[in-house]
Amino acid sequence: MADIILGIESSCDDTSAAIIKDRVLMSNVIASQAVHKSYGGVVPELASRAHEQNIVPVISEAISQAGIQPEDISAIAFTRGPGLLGSLLVGTSFAKALAIALDKPLVMVNHLQGHVLAGFVREPDREVREPSFPFLCLLVSGGNSQIVKVNSPLDFEILGQTIDDAVGEAFDKCSKMMGLGYPGGPIIDKLAKQGNPDRFKFAKPHIPGLDYSFSGIKTSLLYFVRDEMAKDPEFMDKNREDICASFQKCLIDILMDKLIKAAKQTGIKEIAIGGGVSANSGLRNRIEEEGRKRGWNTYLPQFKFTTDNAAMIAIAGYFHYLNGERASLDVAPVSRVADF
Ligand code: KG4
Repeated sequence: MADIILGIESSCDDTSAAIIKDRVLMSNVIASQAVHKSYGGVVPELASRAHEQNIVPVISEAISQAGIQPEDISAIAFTRGPGLLGSLLVGTSFAKALAIALDKPLVMVNHLQGHVLAGFVREPDREVREPSFPFLCLLVSGGNSQIVKVNSPLDFEILGQTIDDAVGEAFDKCSKMMGLGYPGGPIIDKLAKQGNPDRFKFAKPHIPGLDYSFSGIKTSLLYFVRDEMAKDPEFMDKNREDICASFQKCLIDILMDKLIKAAKQTGIKEIAIGGGVSANSGLRNRIEEEGRKRGWNTYLPQFKFTTDNAAMIAIAGYFHYLNGERASLDVAPVSRVADF
């Protein structure tokens, strides 16, 4: 009999539900929350309320699109964390209620593991190349920047991670500071395509080992723009594309330096990326370019699996389910990965 997993994701500002049958995606429904746009960032209380409104229709739609009945589900996988506690509470509570109502097992998923395993979601009409184990995953999102060594679907080692801001945060905060809008990543990515990446230089951090730091470059950009604007108030308007291209290049250089180092240290040539920032066109091109140069096999997620989605929670849940893992009904969500 097929293993059918319902995945539920509610860690930040996307309410999502997906159904996978064995490893094949049957549906993946996402309700994004437009309510945060005017605030220039996610407002946790508004996010929780929107999840409450969205969760029932999103799950019903995922079940109906998959062409199954609720009782066909083998297990319910939900994001336990990391993320916004109020948002996680909505998904976790709903998953528990559904598990009781349908008398089905519950499986908890670490959101970051979901991002790393997104490349293992199969689709009925699409051939998917999957990395072989062990592989390195550059996990880059609004909340995390990590280099993860993935030994098996359930065995992860974090080789390096940010000691302060995540790279997505650097995109978002700098975009806000330059008055470009939110979320900053896609906006800067778009403007960067029309700019000269070598026009401006920003100071890069010197962090030992494989860890990252992105708070310094944020400050570096802030002072640079402030000083130039003092000389010419139209500096930003005249140079927007070049600033974005140069800033983005600097972030990509920082990410790639440590990834190359990790590949050399481990001898691993299977390289994947995941998380919201893996949608960045400059980063995707650069990974492929370095891959050709260094003999890596590179794995880039489809755009729909880069940002938060329940398909990745369902696939991670599938591996935990097959491993016999079950969550108890008194499990609580956690906001930090350290508490997982
Ligand atoms: O993984 P994600 O949806 O949420 C979590 O943080 O879990 O990632 C969101 C982040 C935001 O910081 C957003 O600006 C960034 O991903 N992002 C991008 C791009 N698309 C989304 N950053 C750079 N370039 C993009 N094209």
